[in-house]
Amino acid sequence: MLVATALVCGLLLQSAHAAEAVADRVERVLRLRADTNHGRTLYSQYCANCHGATALGDAAGTVPSLAGQRPNYLLKQVADVLENDRSVPEMHQLMGRWQFEDPQSLRDVVSWLAELAPNPRPGVGSGTQVAEGTRIYQADCAGCHGRFGEGDNPSYVPALRGQHYSYLRRQMAALATGHRTGMDGEGRQRLGRISLTQLDAVADYISRLPSERDAVPDGNPFAPGAQ
Ligand code: HEC
Ligand code: HEC
Repeated sequence: MLVATALVCGLLLQSAHAAEAVADRVERVLRLRADTNHGRTLYSQYCANCHGATALGDAAGTVPSLAGQRPNYLLKQVADVLENDRSVPEMHQLMGRWQFEDPQSLRDVVSWLAELAPNPRPGVGSGTQVAEGTRIYQADCAGCHGRFGEGDNPSYVPALRGQHYSYLRRQMAALATGHRTGMDGEGRQRLGRISLTQLDAVADYISRLPSERDAVPDGNPFAPGAQ
């Protein structure tokens, strides 16, 4: 119930009904114990043809990297797609299959993805405005997404490191303009305040963040098992 309440509060921009349906689904799935081997099999069968064999997405940024993403965020995105609260036309048909109505399958596939190493070489931007991107990111975004872009699993905040520049840029624009909901008022306002050139600079900086294993010399405190 706590999970559901926290999630509904975080989703005020979404329609109340869809947000509740997403929260219910997420809560049911989180109660289950993951079988990552089953997750790997499902992933190879249903997701790898678009997201890639090790879930690194494509550098052109049409398809996102999913490797090493926070499990709660992955789960919420899949639930958003299932409840038609995030539009990913490529995935709607697939998500209608019985496997993804099954909470255990969802648990298994997101847990497997969360354990993979993040993409060490995502597509990057021009490299001309990285200093500006650093300044904006550390001032406006790091408070939620983490200094190294590692995200925050309990709060459903995605990791951004290891993600492709073009994908980041497109999602930032969609979130800022309300074409994609899900980010709360404050994050959206901060994104909305920055110009298109600055948006470019931030996306470029994020795509160059080292993978968390490089950034944290003493191991990986953000690993799924550590939360
Ligand atoms: C036909 C191609 C295709 C298939 C198959 C597919 N996806 Fe996707 N997926 C996409 C595209 C394209 C996007 C990005 C949509 C956008 O730009 O908003 C995406 C986005 C996502 C996201 C959101 C990522 C983020 O960072 O917000 C998740 C999670 C996801 N897919 C999981 C899966 C899983 C799990 C499977 C298999 C069960 C799967 N996808 C199968 C094409 C596909
Ligand atoms: C108040 C917290 C908060 C702040 C501040 C914030 N974000 Fe977010 N951001 C979120 C949450 C939560 C989501 C997930 C939205 C969802 O569930 O669809 C998100 C999603 C995103 C995504 C989509 C990731 C993906 O894989 O699809 C990007 C890109 C992003 N934020 C970039 C930024 C940038 C750049 C800034 C600073 C200008 C920023 N955010 C500030 C909380 C925040």
